[in-house]
Amino acid sequence: MAKPEKMIFVCNKQRPAGHPRGSCAEKGAMDLPMAFSEALDSKNLFAKVSLATTGCLGPCHLGPLALVMPGNVWYKGLTKGDVNDIVSEHIEGGKPVERLIVTDEDWDN
Ligand code: FES
Repeated sequence: MAKPEKMIFVCNKQRPAGHPRGSCAEKGAMDLPMAFSEALDSKNLFAKVSLATTGCLGPCHLGPLALVMPGNVWYKGLTKGDVNDIVSEHIEGGKPVERLIVTDEDWDN
C-alpha cells in the first residue's frame, strides 16, 4: 500500500448511557465509517486516502467528530448526510467544508 495523501479519523467512542461526557457513538457516529468508505470507494479515492476509526478525540460535546490530516481540520456534529460533502469538497476538491468545521470558539466552550 502506498503512503496515503490524506487521513480521515472518525471517533467511534462508546460510553455507558448517562455518562456525563456522552459519546460520539450515542450521537450516530457508528454509521459514519461505512458512509466514508462508500463515498471514498465511489470516487476511487481509497488508494490515496486512509480511513480509521478512533477512540475519543477530546471535545465530545461537539461530536460526532472527524479529523482530516494533513491540515488539522476538525469536523463536528456529523451525520451521514455530511460525508459526501466532506469527501467531494475537501478530500477530492481540497476545500474544507466550512459549515462543519470546529472553530476556536467551539473548543473553548
Ligand atoms: S467521544 Fe468522540 S470526541 Fe469524545
